[in-house]
Amino acid sequence: MNNVIDFINVNRDRYLDELKALLAIPSISALPEHAADVKRCAEWCADEMRRIGMQNVRMIPTPGNPVVYGDWLGAAGAPTILFYGHYDVQPVDPLNLWETPPFEATIRDGEIFARGSADDKGQVFMHFKAIEAHLKQNGKLPVNIRIILEGEEEVGSANLDNFILSNKDTLKADVVVISDSPMFARGIPSICYGLRGLVYCQIDLRGSSTDLHSGSFGGAVANPAFVLAQMIAQMKDRGGHIKVPGFYDDVVELKPEEREAWAKLPFNEKQYKKDFGIPKVLGETGYTTLERTWARPTLEVNGLLSGFTGEGAKTVLPAVAMAKISMRLVPNQEPEKIAALFEDYVRKLAPKTVELKFTRMHGGKPWMTSFDNPFVQAAGRAIELGFGQRPVFTREGGSIPVVSTFQEVLGLPSVLFGVGLPDENAHAPNEKLDVGNFHGGIIASAYLYDQIAQIPLPA
Ligand code: BES
Ligand code: MN
Ligand code: MN
Repeated sequence: MNNVIDFINVNRDRYLDELKALLAIPSISALPEHAADVKRCAEWCADEMRRIGMQNVRMIPTPGNPVVYGDWLGAAGAPTILFYGHYDVQPVDPLNLWETPPFEATIRDGEIFARGSADDKGQVFMHFKAIEAHLKQNGKLPVNIRIILEGEEEVGSANLDNFILSNKDTLKADVVVISDSPMFARGIPSICYGLRGLVYCQIDLRGSSTDLHSGSFGGAVANPAFVLAQMIAQMKDRGGHIKVPGFYDDVVELKPEEREAWAKLPFNEKQYKKDFGIPKVLGETGYTTLERTWARPTLEVNGLLSGFTGEGAKTVLPAVAMAKISMRLVPNQEPEKIAALFEDYVRKLAPKTVELKFTRMHGGKPWMTSFDNPFVQAAGRAIELGFGQRPVFTREGGSIPVVSTFQEVLGLPSVLFGVGLPDENAHAPNEKLDVGNFHGGIIASAYLYDQIAQIPLPA
């Protein structure tokens, strides 16, 4: 391994220059005007995979954005890693809050700022460079690797489940590796063994065919903004408990061992409030902040729109109001079932004075694994070798829907090996990746392949 690690250390600066080129492509999957950029980004990744020595690199079309595939299967008898990542990124608005342009990666104070730096291009690129180092120095990898990169993760992975179902042979492997999550904290690397699931919905209310003069009509006609606020107010009680009937029926309670382990993690609530400008934390009664975000479901308003929101005042009774609402789920909540329960509840909450349109958007299942499996243990050793420190075991509040598909359809365990940070600003202005974590992540990934190679396969 020494020659591989030396190579990575010598090439440190080149990696940053190359990553900047990848980060310059605005592959925003949510915005149709960026369709060509998304495609260009897929091609860039395919070209890069060829450059580093991956074989059989190709674009596999889906009804949406293509999956980029490549493999290196020269390690006879060794395990096969299926590496998953995504090349699409989130929109960048509000653009005026970015200190440097989102698609001109800039290094400041040891961080690389750009949309996609942490989520997920920077972390995908880490693995490219670890693979390259092995292949350039030794002409081979210690394990077999298949890579799939998705271009629709940030919009709900609508085509990925079908892709996996119809490409089972192409995806034959022993373990999935994903780097698309944050570490516990700066200087505290972690391995994530659980993710929340998601259900996303939109509520549209209409109270009249057009906006009305609020003096002439106010008091006699329902105001959809007001009605929507009243409906939302009935979704949670003051203790943070979600009031949708049946919502908690399938929730698996936290294990006492988990609570004990998490209580020992160096989580500093004072610092957390300071870092994110939070006056006072809030959530479900009886749970800590980590428990609330990692192991308890939540219901959140992601967006609200109604009436006059410009400068100054305008007396108007808005005709429509809209809310985007999502729920994060935990094992064993089923997205379909929760969406149905929520829709029923919303229909009951809506008074006859407004017209309701309810739209179900994307979703994904929660996921959890036991961390005593040999692949997770191997990842722990790799992190220790790469970062000089044993990882802590965490769950996360975010969602990567495909992880449960890998388990259910391919029967594969996943190792979540992320090197982002809680303050990475994913999905927000000034997204960043710590340059030291990026470099450590390349070394840890190089070790990961070596560690997984040593796991005996069942005969
Ligand atoms: N990388 C994130 C997932 C993530 C976030 C994992 C935080 C762990 C901690 C991923 O790109 C993402 O943003 N997922 C979406 C999924 C949704 C669009 C279905 C999410 O969590 O909102
Ligand atoms: Mn991601
Ligand atoms: Mn994301």
